[in-house]
Amino acid sequence: MGQQHGSRKGLTHREVPRGVGLLLSLALMNAVLYLCLDWFFISPRPPEDPSRCPRGYFRMGRMKNCSRWLSCEELRTEVRQLRRVGEGAVKRVFLSEWNEHKVALSRLTRLEMKDDFLHGLQMLKSLQSQHVVTLVGYCEEDGTILTEYHPLGSLSNLEETLNLSKYQDVNTWQHRLQLAVEYVAIINYLHQSPLGVRVMCDSNDLPKTLSQYLLTSNFSIVANDLDALPLVDHASGVRVKCGHRELHGDFVAPEQLWPYGGDTPFRDDFMPSYDEKIDIWKIPDVSSFLLGHVEGSDMVRFHLFDIHKACKSQIPTERPTAQDVLDTYQKVLHSLRDSVMSQTKEML
Ligand SMILES: Nc1ncnc2c1ncn2[C@@H]1O[C@H](COP(=O)(O)OP(=O)(O)O)[C@@H](O)[C@H]1O
Ligand SMILES: [Mg+2]
Repeated sequence: MGQQHGSRKGLTHREVPRGVGLLLSLALMNAVLYLCLDWFFISPRPPEDPSRCPRGYFRMGRMKNCSRWLSCEELRTEVRQLRRVGEGAVKRVFLSEWNEHKVALSRLTRLEMKDDFLHGLQMLKSLQSQHVVTLVGYCEEDGTILTEYHPLGSLSNLEETLNLSKYQDVNTWQHRLQLAVEYVAIINYLHQSPLGVRVMCDSNDLPKTLSQYLLTSNFSIVANDLDALPLVDHASGVRVKCGHRELHGDFVAPEQLWPYGGDTPFRDDFMPSYDEKIDIWKIPDVSSFLLGHVEGSDMVRFHLFDIHKACKSQIPTERPTAQDVLDTYQKVLHSLRDSVMSQTKEML
């Protein structure tokens, strides 16, 4: 003891560097431990998927290697347009063929929508991930975008698709809840995107919202139409408005409605802006559509009741984050799967 409490003067020259060295190595260990914890638990974004192509390249179907995004010249000469498969406010979409691959060729329909078109293209380029449709090429000059084609089309067709007899085995609450998980995972990705917090503005009613997402052949969901993804920046007080017109109905969040009553005519410049919590408000309605009405759907709805109630809070800041909703959905999916498994085992 006495020795340990010895005065500083009592430390030998060799002990001083040893002590400093010990402190330094402790600090280093702490830093390493912190970085590891940060990587595993705190880091909001998962590490990049190494199987994905680098920016500027794509891979789809059975392609082994990544290929460079097609240029204007290649789009004009190598893509064969077959038939129209969809249309929205900005683009007309054609099933097309490139190099024996089915692709979707989107053509800008109205020149006055060029800014939205270019914004969407910019977002597609920067947000390539498992959550977003694969970009194959583009030509700004011609107003064309080429993406991977998904034969099952947009989420609006989900019910018709699942009612086909060949898809009966996927028309279960398990698969439908998995779709809801994927939908929330996309919203979460947009809210934590490499381009900051992005709000899915093209979603003023349920059919419109559903038409922005595609159902892939392996029954997963990708975001397709990114023409209206404005940025929210909480640190500098940047908020958004989805369009310049008055919105109605209860699909949109309450803060998106004109707050000054029917007697005061709507004026865009007096309309308050809002943030990404408008996407959270819409989750219960989209999920309910995805869950549909099969055996077990109502049981799932019951388990999601509390989180959905929180999503529908009138006060945006009281709504959960997309990450909170995603965590709850995943917990519910896993616990219901586990309990069904143990029930099945008991029956055997
Ligand atoms: N890659 C694709 N595969 C299959 N269908 C598609 C694809 N891209 C778009 N579509 C169809 O075209 C519709 C309109 O496309 P979208 O990009 O939303 O256009 P807009 O920007 O005009 O709303 C979609 O709702 C979908 O039905
Ligand atoms: Mg659209």
